[in-house]
Amino acid sequence: MLQTTIITTKSFPRIAYKKQGSGPAVMLIHGFPASGILWDGVVPGLTQYFTVLVPDIPGSGESLPGNEAVSMDALSAIVPAILDDAGFEYCVLAGHSMGGYLALAAAALFPERLKGLSLVHSTAKADDEEKREKRRKSIELIRKGGKEPFIRGMVPGLFSDAFRKIHSEAVGRWIGEGMKLTPEAMIAFYTAMLERPDRQDVVRNAPFPVQWIAGKDDALIPWQSVLSQATRADISAVSLYKECGHMAMVEKNEKLTADLRNFASHCLNSRILEVATT
Ligand code: MLT
Repeated sequence: MLQTTIITTKSFPRIAYKKQGSGPAVMLIHGFPASGILWDGVVPGLTQYFTVLVPDIPGSGESLPGNEAVSMDALSAIVPAILDDAGFEYCVLAGHSMGGYLALAAAALFPERLKGLSLVHSTAKADDEEKREKRRKSIELIRKGGKEPFIRGMVPGLFSDAFRKIHSEAVGRWIGEGMKLTPEAMIAFYTAMLERPDRQDVVRNAPFPVQWIAGKDDALIPWQSVLSQATRADISAVSLYKECGHMAMVEKNEKLTADLRNFASHCLNSRILEVATT
């Protein structure tokens, strides 16, 4: 069985991460409401070429919450901590949605530890006031004991209509995964997302290539907004997936794996022969 490594830092009593494969490092940061297992369908397609590091963000999966108030900046400290522990100077860092917000914070604070940044259904923009208000209402609902209706209301909307209709078991599975988060962790993550700063300058000044993956049917992160940000870095890679919502690692697993593999290989100068998958 795959071993989980546990590390402790001053701020985080227990950071759990999985390490698989060999070669230069690629780290995959999951979104909300999930844990590192979100990437399970992607990891096997990367391990032949890369050492794949998959943490559970503190407060999710097997990682405990941190000791201090949760912010994306504070959470991003797990990136250098895991790289140090695993013996890597740098990695290609990929983040899904909230994981992308964390990855952007890491790119701002520890740019020397990144050789590439991949934003999967994510955005460098801060929340606008409408989104903030929605988050405040969700926080209120969770605080009053409404974790289950919140998750049951939210998770189906992460998938495209087409996917949801024929894969109700997958939607059910991710509702179940979401329910594993404690109400306290959900509130902490929502607060950190609500308060996160705009990071468009990080993308604009990125000293490494930036990849953008957008879903044509993503109801959370509209593809138009992604495309408007996607040409700002000196080197950008952009993929727009048709018939895909907010969950390419589930909905378009092979395509996302191939795109991540190609991007990481470009950033890390590793030579791999790519067989196109669509
Ligand atoms: C996620 O998918 O990680 C979050 O739902 C993103 C968000 O709420 O902004």
